[in-house]
Amino acid sequence: MSDLFSQESADKERIDYLRKELNHHNFLYYIKDAPEISDREFDALLEELHKLEDANPQFFDPNSPTQRVGGGLTKKFKTVKHSFPMLSLSNSYSRTEIEAWVARAYKSLGDQKVFFVCELKYDGAAVSLRYENGVLVRATTRGDGKSGDDITINVRTIRTVPLQLKGDYPEIFEIRGEIFMPKPSFVTLNESRKAAGLDLFANPRNAAAGSLKLQDSKEVANRRLESFTYSVVSDADIADSHYASLELATSWGFHTPLLYDNYVQRVSSVDDVMQFIEYWNEHRHDLPFEIDGVVIKVDDVYQQKELGYTAKSPRWAIAYKFAAEEAQTILNDIRFQVGRTGAVTPVAELEAVALAGTTVRRASLHNADQIARLDLRIGDTVRVEKGGDIIPKVTGVVHELRPVNSKPFEYIQNCPECQAPLVRPEGEVVHYCPAEFTCPPQRIGKVQHFISRKALDIDGIGSETVKQLFQAGLVTGIADLYKLRVEDLLPLERMAQKSADNLIQGIEASKTQPFERVLFGLGIRHVGETVAQKLVAAFSSIDRLMEASIEDMLLVDEIGEIIAKSVFDFLKRDDAQILISALRDAGLNFERTDSGGDLLMSQVFQGKSFVVSGVFTRFDRDGIKEFIQKNSGKIVGSISSKTDYVVAGENMGPAKLEKAQKLGVRIISENELIQMVEQQ
Ligand code: IVH
Repeated sequence: MSDLFSQESADKERIDYLRKELNHHNFLYYIKDAPEISDREFDALLEELHKLEDANPQFFDPNSPTQRVGGGLTKKFKTVKHSFPMLSLSNSYSRTEIEAWVARAYKSLGDQKVFFVCELKYDGAAVSLRYENGVLVRATTRGDGKSGDDITINVRTIRTVPLQLKGDYPEIFEIRGEIFMPKPSFVTLNESRKAAGLDLFANPRNAAAGSLKLQDSKEVANRRLESFTYSVVSDADIADSHYASLELATSWGFHTPLLYDNYVQRVSSVDDVMQFIEYWNEHRHDLPFEIDGVVIKVDDVYQQKELGYTAKSPRWAIAYKFAAEEAQTILNDIRFQVGRTGAVTPVAELEAVALAGTTVRRASLHNADQIARLDLRIGDTVRVEKGGDIIPKVTGVVHELRPVNSKPFEYIQNCPECQAPLVRPEGEVVHYCPAEFTCPPQRIGKVQHFISRKALDIDGIGSETVKQLFQAGLVTGIADLYKLRVEDLLPLERMAQKSADNLIQGIEASKTQPFERVLFGLGIRHVGETVAQKLVAAFSSIDRLMEASIEDMLLVDEIGEIIAKSVFDFLKRDDAQILISALRDAGLNFERTDSGGDLLMSQVFQGKSFVVSGVFTRFDRDGIKEFIQKNSGKIVGSISSKTDYVVAGENMGPAKLEKAQKLGVRIISENELIQMVEQQ
């Protein structure tokens, strides 16, 4: 006993030491950008800590450096009230407006000397971080300014957010800042989304905000978010000036602009403020992250108090927003793209022009209405703007430069890919190609959608492979996937035996996917994941859904007329019926599988105990328990340090989640549970 005890205390000592060391090296690497040990040495320390923590779950700490990789799941974020409201800033766009703001400040302050701090306006999502005794205890989104979502679990994965402070920090305080996605991470993320056939994020801001709300913190860790902190809030007086509070925050280990040469400047005249603004307006594209302006703050805290607040924003600070950058160039042509759903998108083909740090050759034109509204004509000189979005927009025509004899643009009437006459459904602004099953990009797009992660999630095949299969004539539609054989694939380029085997196995495994995924995978217009789930819950099988009238479907929660009609029309079509019957013959699920159906039964969970909590999509409550038991696992009622897994469904209570995290119990989703059995 005493041996065990001394082992435990030796472990604890080593754990504490490793955590401290790793925090320190994290700081040197991510904040100071001046590492003192190699990545390998760092990984070795981290690995050692992982092992010790695994062997000693009683010492679990959510702020341990091992937790940076995430792992916890959140179904619904808890709403928390901010202890100080999170205000916004008033905006300005010109020197005149800055002068007026400065004049108002001088007037209220009776001609005291005023210093201003100029900072970058980071383009991401605001967060409030609460620290108690030097430890991060909560991270909250801005929300409506009064309360926001508790996203602590996700923010812990961000390396430039310190989990443990150093130096002489206040016992309790909050610090605010911006979480953003650096440009290189954004590019990588969108590239991998493209390869997986997922929708792309329009800009790094949306990507950052979206990432913070992900349910799987492991995924957040992969997104490579970063932070800058910009203000300390506390009941106690922290410092006499904003600049000094930034210095303090830097000393506690926060990632602040003071760590960089020219990200922040303390000045005393409008000229200097304008110089800072102009410098960054010109150089913003050299930064590794996006900014949308500059923030100017009165430095002195007592002057800030005198100036006070309006209902929405402080009078002691103002944002200067950069104008969306604009360029003029020639519209050479308008081309049309046909998407997976048949939606036709016009694209402006431009004479190459430099804009906001990149060369622009194409710009989006939303639809026929926009072209008509702007009266765009081929040969026109057009204005192109790049705001926060990556894709530039055409915003207008320079009429003085219009060539004589130019003719109004006539929108196409036939699909540019298959010549079918286009349709424009009533009340919609988009034209569609109705040849859903014959138009090549729609056929390819349908298969790409079918295999995608949220649909049938077929491993071993990506969007590019689908194109290859079409080009080789091996696949002309979804049903052909189930006829593929390894020997058909081997002649394809970059297709080794192993990839071919994987592909066929992935296709085989898709036959166990539940009906709602199959239904979503069919790519019926207006049927997203949730709608597919609702339809399956209400109608149980494809046969019942095919018999249902539009009125029957309207009775289902969240199903409105547009959706009901779209589903009804789809299921009545011959080509859809042929597809469904081919997939059914191939062995796909067209019926609801409440209890996990006939999934393998095994010994995989031998000796493991499970707590099941929340609502599941692939099982009902008894079904999931039965599934665990049939695979030799034990169900227990409440979480303890002896529990091996918590299977978390929708609406799992936050108290349970917290308890599981505290005790270091692994939290898994129903899909992970099923995968554990399948992999076996
Ligand atoms: S100070 C009272 N400083 O801009 C508000 N905000 O509309 C104090 N932002 O929600 C904010 N960079 O998310 C401040 N250097 C900076 C900033 C910054 C970006 C964001 C912030 C806020 C919004 C203001």
